[in-house]
Amino acid sequence: MKITVVGAGNVGATCANDIARKELAQEVILLDIREGFAEGKAIDMMQTASLHGFNTHLKGVTNDYAATADSEVVIITSGLPRKPGMTREELIGTNAGIVKGVTENLIKYSPNAIIIVVANPMDTMNYLALKVSGFSKHKVIGMGGALDSSRFKYYLSQELGCSQSDLNAVVIGGHGDTTMIPLIKHATWNSIPVTQFLSEEQQDKIVKATMVGGATLTKLIGTSAWYTPGAGAAVMAEAIVRDQKKLISSGVALNGEYGQEDISLVVPVILGKGGWEQILEFNLSEAEQAEFSKSAAAVRNMNQVLYDTNVI
Ligand code: 2OP
Repeated sequence: MKITVVGAGNVGATCANDIARKELAQEVILLDIREGFAEGKAIDMMQTASLHGFNTHLKGVTNDYAATADSEVVIITSGLPRKPGMTREELIGTNAGIVKGVTENLIKYSPNAIIIVVANPMDTMNYLALKVSGFSKHKVIGMGGALDSSRFKYYLSQELGCSQSDLNAVVIGGHGDTTMIPLIKHATWNSIPVTQFLSEEQQDKIVKATMVGGATLTKLIGTSAWYTPGAGAAVMAEAIVRDQKKLISSGVALNGEYGQEDISLVVPVILGKGGWEQILEFNLSEAEQAEFSKSAAAVRNMNQVLYDTNVI
């Protein structure tokens, strides 16, 4: 098993590190365009192997796609991160060209890989990778739902004073400050609806905090967050390579599900060795469905930029 992570920045390096510590592959290739950068990070991680007790071999390369050949899973984290005050959508101009080039290079050497897209604006970058690769829709998956659902559980746990692992909660829609939809009415605390313990005001506070969770961290740190995005991608890779059939909110191409088509949006899916294997469709309330349609319209506008600027 070989996994490639493109981009050795904060998110890519965290993701590669998590993958190694979980021993998801014999080999992890970390690729970056900066001379020696990925090599250095990979060696640093390799030097933790005896401390953490893992046997995965990490190798860093500078733009050498031949080294990524025959990867089973490739994770695209490359592109610019957000700066404070910036939306994810503002990154499209730079990141669309980067993600297109990276995808073309990756598929040349790993035509059977499953692609996980982390780069922002994620919904549009995943749509782009799908179009550029020509891969089956099941094999191109956006990371955003895993991250946003995890943030949602964090904010829920803060308000409830409970363990995050006792919570079930998902975010759907887009991976954007105004497009994500934390489904609080469906969230449970060990199967009991959280709404039984939270006032409308508390629920509203949690939903709002989740939606701007990325921006809050960007303001504090000065750049985009990386621990949770990196962990989210690694957990998705784990579900795929271990064929876990885990239910993880992910960005996938919709073909009529939730009333949308020709778009990638975050919905609950089963992840296993086939990539995303099944979309879980369940009844949304009228208000939730309306929000989903509104998010789809915003993401569709963003996707249109790819056509208007001749990226695809
Ligand atoms: C985030 O929300 C980087 O999009 C990522 O932190």
